[in-house]
Amino acid sequence: MAENTVENKKLIETIVWRCPSNIAIVKYWGKKENQLPCNSSLSMTLSKAFTEIELTLQEKKAADEIELDFFFEGKKNVQFQERVKKYLSAQAKDFSFLKEFAVSINSHNSFPHSAGIASSASAFGAIALSICDVLRTLRKQTINEDFFRKASELARLGSGSACRSMYGDFVLWGKNNAIANSSDEFAIPVTDIHENFKNFHDAILIVEKEPKKVSSSVGHSLMNNHPFAENRFLQADKRVERLKNVLSSGDLSEFIHIAESEALTLHAMMMTSEDYYLLMKSGTLIAIEKIIEFRKETKIPVCFTLDAGPNVHVLYPGSEKNKVELFLNNMIGNSVKEIIFDQIGDGPQKIR
Ligand code: DP6
Repeated sequence: MAENTVENKKLIETIVWRCPSNIAIVKYWGKKENQLPCNSSLSMTLSKAFTEIELTLQEKKAADEIELDFFFEGKKNVQFQERVKKYLSAQAKDFSFLKEFAVSINSHNSFPHSAGIASSASAFGAIALSICDVLRTLRKQTINEDFFRKASELARLGSGSACRSMYGDFVLWGKNNAIANSSDEFAIPVTDIHENFKNFHDAILIVEKEPKKVSSSVGHSLMNNHPFAENRFLQADKRVERLKNVLSSGDLSEFIHIAESEALTLHAMMMTSEDYYLLMKSGTLIAIEKIIEFRKETKIPVCFTLDAGPNVHVLYPGSEKNKVELFLNNMIGNSVKEIIFDQIGDGPQKIR
C-alpha cells in the first residue's frame, strides 16, 4: 500500500478492519445537530459480535462524485449503500481520496442478520476505521491514540453508538462535567476497571427476529420535545459518573441497579414520547422477571439490560458463567428463540 499514492492513482490495496458491537449500560437516547449526544453514555465492548469491512479503492476517471459499491454478505445492498454513500459524501472534504477513487465495500457480520442485533455501531465503526486507515497510510503515520480518536469522531457521524466501539472493555462518550477528557465529539476508554468486571459476559436472548418497527433515529428525535427530557439527561450524566466509580470499586449490586434501571428508563422514554411506542414483547417481560427471580434465589450477580428492541441482554461475571448459562439455556422455548453468548472484548482489530 505504501507505494500507492493518490497522485499516481494506482490501485489502492484492500484494507480490512474488524469492529465489535457494544452494549450501553448507561444509554445514549436523544441527540443534537451533528450527531452530538444530549447526555453522556457508558458501554461495554463485545467480542464475538462484530462487523468486518473490506475497503478497496480503485482508479477512476473523474473525481467529482463519490462512487460506491456496497456489498453485504456478498450481495449488493442498495439500501445501506445509499446511507453509506451519503455518509462518505459528507466526509469527502477531509478524506479527498473518497472522491478520487472508486470505493468498494464488502461488509460481513459475525452474527446472523436476522438475530435482531443492532449492527450500525459495528458497521460504521469498521467503515470509519478503514477510511482513517487509508489516510494514515497515505500520510505514512502510525496507528496511535490520535488515530482511534479520529476514527471515533468519524464513526459517531455515521451512528452515535459506533464511536464507543473504538476501544475495548468499558467506554464513555459524551461531555460529563465530572469526568476529565470526556467529550461529545468522541469516546474515551474507561480505565481502572475492578477485577469483578474484567471478564464480564453478555448473553443476548433473542425474543424477536423481526427488524425494529421504529428506528433509533426516530426514537432519538422524539426526545426533542419529550416532557421528561431534561431530567432524563441529568439523570444519565449522574449515572455515568456513578457507574464509572462502580467499575473501579467493583460494586456489583450498584452495577445491577444502574444497568436495570437504565434499561427500563430507556423504554419508559419511548412509552412516554408524544408519539408513544412499545418495543418490548411479552417474551421480554417474561425473561426479565425470570432473571430477577433467579438472582433473588441464587444471589448470583446477574442482571438484564435492553437496547432499542425486544431482545434481552443478560450481564454476569465470567466466574458465574456455568450456572447462569445453564439457567439461560433452560429458557429457550416459547419466549426465547435463541441465545447469542458474548463477552467483553478488546476492541477493533486490523485484519489486513
Ligand atoms: C438504545 O447509535 O443506533 O442503543 O446515532 O441514530 O445511529 P444513531 O443511533 P444509535 O442509538 C443507540 C441507542 C441505544 C443506546 C446506546 O447504544 O447508547
